[in-house]
Amino acid sequence: MRRATITGWGKYLPPNVMTNKDLEKIVDTTDEWIQKRTGIKKRRIADEDTATSDLAIEASQEALEKANLDPEELDLIIVSTVTPDMAFPATACIVQDKIGASNAAAFDLEAGCSGFVYGLSVGAQFIESGLYDNVLVIGAETLSKITDWEDRNTCVLFGDGAGAAVLQATDKGGFLAFDLGSDGSGANALYMEAGGSAKPASLETVKNKQHYIRMEGNPVFKFAVKTMKRASLDVLEKAELTTDDINLLIPHQANTRIIKSARRRLKLDEDEVYVNLPELGNTSSASVAIAMAEAKENGKIKNGDNVLLVAFGAGLTWAAAAIEWNENI
Ligand code: ACO
Repeated sequence: MRRATITGWGKYLPPNVMTNKDLEKIVDTTDEWIQKRTGIKKRRIADEDTATSDLAIEASQEALEKANLDPEELDLIIVSTVTPDMAFPATACIVQDKIGASNAAAFDLEAGCSGFVYGLSVGAQFIESGLYDNVLVIGAETLSKITDWEDRNTCVLFGDGAGAAVLQATDKGGFLAFDLGSDGSGANALYMEAGGSAKPASLETVKNKQHYIRMEGNPVFKFAVKTMKRASLDVLEKAELTTDDINLLIPHQANTRIIKSARRRLKLDEDEVYVNLPELGNTSSASVAIAMAEAKENGKIKNGDNVLLVAFGAGLTWAAAAIEWNENI
């Protein structure tokens, strides 16, 4: 059976580090509160003149190198982001041009923090159907650009970065199953109000700070705890696996309390879950992509391992993927 598998992975983090102590100087918060309530210690922040595509390009080039693939061999580029360079054209097209992927189709996909796993599922369908052979899926964000640095409820949570994966065909292992979902009734728990057709940018929207992330933390927290478990179990069932078969869970990095709860509910040991949240904060759709690339770099994923990716985010959305890791096609 023709399946998609990950043959290349890469990540890029802007060099500028912002610590909790730095945040103490900006808003009424403490390092202690942030670490206790979220687990976050620091995050990366892109320069003023760095766009999401700049981070995406660096991560993509690393992923292509790992896959030993020439950019011209790419058939499709999918960028998942809530912070595109512009409303249009798609950030994927900017990446396509700059990396020299002259034969690739390109589009953006938006599913909040679940976007990278959504993107993997879309890319995998193109490969399984036989339409394409080489697909690049990127999760990239510059959340710092849409963060209200006067809102302590949100500004302590987010960071910038990008991760990328090259998908190719295999007849052994690869993506075994996906589970995607949404609950749009929760749209008002996490959103950016203005700048779209519902509320176009105006002097008033800028004055009212409606171009920033707004979030109701508690409902998102409850949704996350519930869906991380449900999506994980659903995707495992589809893949005909149980939690005992999982070698590594790579969850969306939003809050260590959410990750801990998912780990306990899935009865996994601490070393079976990849966590980099303390160092990077929540990088939205880049988070699972970066964590996966890091896990590979740190030797946490070996060929033949069963890897479970699970994410939740704005929409509200969720997404999970079960992978039998096989990078040697
Ligand atoms: N520093 C100090 N105090 C703070 C801060 C801060 N940075 N932020 C909030 N507080 C205060 C609140 O004002 C509140 O004070 P009050 O009781 O006097 O009103 C108190 O701390 C408790 O606030 P809660 O919101 O109840 O705190 P909670 O323990 O729920 O933690 C948090 C808040 C961290 C946001 C949590 O709800 C959470 O992680 N939610 C999930 C968020 C998430 O994952 N979002 C990402 C979604 S993915 C995407 O698509 C981007």
